[in-house]
Amino acid sequence: MTAIQTDRLAIRNFDVDDWHDLREMITQYQSSEYAMYDHEWPTATEEIKRITEWFAGGDSYLAVCLKTTRKVIGFIALNREEQDDCLAFNLGYCFNADYQGKGYATEGCQAVLDHAFGQLAADKVITGTAAANQPSCRLLMRLGMRKTGESTGSLRQTPDGKPIEFAGLSFAISRDEWLEDGT
Ligand SMILES: CC(C)(COP(=O)(O)OP(=O)(O)OC[C@H]1O[C@@H](n2cnc3c(N)ncnc32)[C@H](O)[C@@H]1OP(=O)(O)O)[C@@H](O)C(=O)NCCC(=O)NCCS
Repeated sequence: MTAIQTDRLAIRNFDVDDWHDLREMITQYQSSEYAMYDHEWPTATEEIKRITEWFAGGDSYLAVCLKTTRKVIGFIALNREEQDDCLAFNLGYCFNADYQGKGYATEGCQAVLDHAFGQLAADKVITGTAAANQPSCRLLMRLGMRKTGESTGSLRQTPDGKPIEFAGLSFAISRDEWLEDGT
């Protein structure tokens, strides 16, 4: 894809050389209080290199870079969802902890939603997050996404094999809602 420029960010395809920055943010995420609400990500160098190569081979996982230093400070994912009646994408994101609380995720996701509803002609963008992941919930509200459901989920187990259950929230935004919000 053609890189997207925002005020402070360049959002582009991953390059195989980005593995170091990716490992930094994934390692931080895996040691955070929110990791238990997501699938486990590998952090070993070889596995991170393989993930980076896989990201670099497609348009679903985008590297978010600071324009000033070119450091990759986050990734934003847009994964195509199989839905009968419409073209939908699932939004995902993870940012380096040292660069959170500065509005970069909002700025990046807004540009990626513009891309989804523009170039990709999406009908809607959906996502889900743990209710306890407050930074993620606040981000989705800032993006204008609306809560569409609640459920109980489990993506990890305790060391003795018991599922770690959590309250999950689903969010969505349609193209009309996005265009209306942006005017
Ligand atoms: C979810 C996540 C991306 C949110 O990151 P974030 O840094 O809080 O979000 P933003 O970059 O949009 O920053 C917004 C915050 O910066 C503040 N801010 C500071 N300067 C700002 C600026 N110039 N512009 C906008 N906001 C600014 C805002 O007030 C806001 O603070 P608040 O949330 O306390 O109200 C981040 O927590 C993350 O990567 N978590 C790990 C991965 C994860 O949990 N993914 C979700 C799995 S479902």
